[in-house]
Amino acid sequence: MNSPTPPKRVVLGVSASIAAYKAADLASRLVKSGVEVFPILTADAARFVQPATFRALTHHPCPIDIFEEPYPGEIAHIWLARNCDLFAIVPASMNVIARLANGLAEDMLTAAAMACTAPILLAPGMNTGMWNNPATQANLTKLRDYGYYFIEPTSGRLACRTEGVGRMADVETIFNAIHEMLARQDSWRGVKVLVTAGPTREPLDPVRYLSNRSSGKMGYALAEAARLRGADVTLISGPTAIAPPGGIKFVRVETAAEMRDAVLPYAASADIVFAAAAVADYRPSEIAAQKIKKSPGGSALALSPNDDILALLGTQKRPGQVLVGFAAETENLLVSARRKRDSKRLDWIVANDVTAEGAGFDVDTNIVTVLGKDGEEISLPLRTKREVAEQILEIVRPTQAHSSMSNLGR
Ligand code: PMT
Repeated sequence: MNSPTPPKRVVLGVSASIAAYKAADLASRLVKSGVEVFPILTADAARFVQPATFRALTHHPCPIDIFEEPYPGEIAHIWLARNCDLFAIVPASMNVIARLANGLAEDMLTAAAMACTAPILLAPGMNTGMWNNPATQANLTKLRDYGYYFIEPTSGRLACRTEGVGRMADVETIFNAIHEMLARQDSWRGVKVLVTAGPTREPLDPVRYLSNRSSGKMGYALAEAARLRGADVTLISGPTAIAPPGGIKFVRVETAAEMRDAVLPYAASADIVFAAAAVADYRPSEIAAQKIKKSPGGSALALSPNDDILALLGTQKRPGQVLVGFAAETENLLVSARRKRDSKRLDWIVANDVTAEGAGFDVDTNIVTVLGKDGEEISLPLRTKREVAEQILEIVRPTQAHSSMSNLGR
């Protein structure tokens, strides 16, 4: 007999906004829907609503100060950060947004949020002037870049008797968004995902190499998005300057040959492969043992082709396995991408015109067209690489993964 699925755990952080009273309703609804809720208030939120209300509604402690120790034997903010499936801050005040954006872990809420690797969802609620304040907008941009999720505030009459944007989204919307995010976390459970990312470096002599401008951001975003859906993720990456996402298997390689050797064993059991790496097509035919000296007459460089890793995977593809390639093009984007898709026997190829502003190498955004082997052609406009990754996952999901994509404001 299967053991029952444990309840989803949500930390509900409440910060100081008049909308704080609505968080009690949210806590109650979440508990009734089977979610285990761990409340945290900021000190100022406790001027609007009482911790006792949240303790009673959730049957859990409601800490405020970072030095409280409501969980025996545990460092509370770390325990909360590690033991939740989702961290929701409802409402998120201007002050809490500023503290999260600037790394100020001064109380239980901000310390737990900043230690948390689960998705963090913010439902801002504040006066229109505070919302439009350039400092708030800059902080929101930072938090979006850091990967926080948002439920945008709406426009309407505010408690300060003004009309404008800043009113926290209604409880029903937040409740649904939380459940959609929780459901999405399981949508790729049991799916084995292999992602390649970053450039390769092909050594020329002890101090030089051939490489390209790939930062790894696109591939890392795919790995992160798959992990957040519960997939079993392996990320094989060339040299990058960015930290790999937590909760995945990470393999660092340098050259195309090392990437091939690392990829092949994992690919054998992967359900889906995302080849976002910019693998060097050629390597220097010889690696000089000593630094090559300057030669007044110039010098020719002999190159040898590297194996095409993805084409190899295409020849070994298991029934049901999904192969997703990427095509970085500077001309004839779709024609070249389709040719690569077909010649490498891919199910999908993600074409990016790397000359377009905001697309391709070493930027935080991308603009892509996803081309399927059955003629599908889906254009995704300028979005953060993380958003692009989430949409790609929705498009190419293997049959055992089920869809639950939400349209959360981001
Ligand atoms: O890393 P970022 O800075 O975020 O940039 C993202 C990206 C532009 C690198 C990414 O979106 C992308 O387009 N990656 C593929 C780049 C590329 O090398 O494309 P290609 O057209 O050369 O290769 C086509 C496909 O074959 C790719 O999936 C590639 O991983 C694969 N390939 C290529 C050559 C080779 N020897 N082995 C391979 O497996």
